[in-house]
Amino acid sequence: MSVTRRDLVAGFFATPALTFLLARHLSAQTSAFPVPLTPACGDDHEITPSSTEGPFYKPQSPLRSDLTSELSGGVRLRIGGHVVDRSCRPILDAVVELWQADGNGQYDNTGNRLRGYQRTDGGGHWSFTTIIPGLYTGRTRHIHFKVQRPGGRVLTTQLFFPGEPGNERDYQFTPQLLLEIEKIASERLGRYDFVIA
Ligand SMILES: [Fe+2]
Repeated sequence: MSVTRRDLVAGFFATPALTFLLARHLSAQTSAFPVPLTPACGDDHEITPSSTEGPFYKPQSPLRSDLTSELSGGVRLRIGGHVVDRSCRPILDAVVELWQADGNGQYDNTGNRLRGYQRTDGGGHWSFTTIIPGLYTGRTRHIHFKVQRPGGRVLTTQLFFPGEPGNERDYQFTPQLLLEIEKIASERLGRYDFVIA
């Protein structure tokens, strides 16, 4: 008896682990986040600068990409990009963890509001749906991140927003950590590619 393509496909879908992998692959391919096909690596492929962790980091945030489900109000921000190495090669399964203030500049220090992590897909893609963080005393507008490739060192850093009056007054600000922001209707789109060792 010959084995047809249909048999092979049916067998593939009958295997739960493979079905999971296919679903994950399709999920990544159909992601609503309009990430460019290729990362925006500079000629020198410099590693993304680190920045301070600050006092509001909490370990064990949940695995999720939509951080808006428990919020009301705020300007919606879809944020994402790639994680790549110094040769601009995408890194699979890198952890990208985000924590940020809400629209009033408040962190949730007891729960996990506006905290979450995810892993990059085969293209090194990451993305979150969140809101524009509010300001708090002494800081310009920013979002905190930890990025780690499997078995690698943790990059702790922050991303900043262009055009903020407070950028130049914040000693932690550096132009290398600026998001590329695009306004689409009522929401903002923020892009950044992390380059890690
Ligand atoms: Fe902060």
